[in-house]
Amino acid sequence: MDERMGWWPVALDSDLQDRPVAVTLLGQPLVLWREPGGALAALADRCPHRGARLSLGEVVQGQLQCPYHGWRFDVQGRCVAIPAMPAFTPAAVHAACRHEVQVAHGLIWVRLQAPGPDAAAAFPMPDLAHLPRRRLIYGPFDVATSAPRAVENFLDTSHFAFVHRGWLGDAGHPEVPPYEVTQTPDGRPVIERYKAWQPRATAAAAEGDWVTYRYEVLSPYSALLTKQGDAGGPQDSYTIWACPTTEDTCRLWFAQYTTDEISPDEALRDFQVAIFSQDQPVLESQSPKRLPLSGGEAHSAADRLSAAYRRYLKACGITFGVC
Ligand code: FES
Ligand code: CO
Repeated sequence: MDERMGWWPVALDSDLQDRPVAVTLLGQPLVLWREPGGALAALADRCPHRGARLSLGEVVQGQLQCPYHGWRFDVQGRCVAIPAMPAFTPAAVHAACRHEVQVAHGLIWVRLQAPGPDAAAAFPMPDLAHLPRRRLIYGPFDVATSAPRAVENFLDTSHFAFVHRGWLGDAGHPEVPPYEVTQTPDGRPVIERYKAWQPRATAAAAEGDWVTYRYEVLSPYSALLTKQGDAGGPQDSYTIWACPTTEDTCRLWFAQYTTDEISPDEALRDFQVAIFSQDQPVLESQSPKRLPLSGGEAHSAADRLSAAYRRYLKACGITFGVC
């Protein structure tokens, strides 16, 4: 399956106001913009006239105006005005390349290419309706590694005792208990139950607790984990949303869905930012930056979920960000 046929997140919905925003998806520069109070658009960030970046332009009367000669485009990408030739009606050849775009889970998602009839169900938008209602989204984090490396790290438990020592892991207990990897009917890896001792499992935790995790790969570039402490604290679910910007870089958001109705937004954010700031330097140090799917790295039995994720990427036919 071609990654271009999947929906991938490219920006926070709340970050797109009245100015065009430049983003990159699968190596393609895009411009996002919206009509005042209206429709969203994702166009190739390249003017069909002389190739200037449309994201340097502005939204004028609900149209995107190129910064160079002022050609204007509507949300469908159609050229609607060429100021140097006011009486001229632009044709299809003057249009900018347009992509499908939608808002979901607080983010803006783009699909570069509509799938053919045989691939209609490729990487469907994850359904998160069952998660707690309080949602916070953290990011973007621009990370100098591939999206699959970042997602694999999110699925990896054996780094807790080292990278998150004193927080999600205990240096005295680095062992990973046996766990079983299963699959959803459509082949996404899942761990139904993984239990670990965590010195500081959540922003609100006053002491250590046994925490039960559930992991689920949502798509080639996203995953969900849910954690609940034995002591009966809040239930937290986190998604990692990775935008594969280039083969070797990604832009991440983490969304937290929590039953914690007490902790202020800032405390929850600080906790997650602290955790990811522990991950980021190690992630960026990994070589190669693309995730090896065909050998080249050694595994132990503790890496069963990572291995299942790699097999899943291979079965999906993912080629971007892997090697
Ligand atoms: Fe865009 Fe000329 S390059 S209007
Ligand atoms: Co980590």
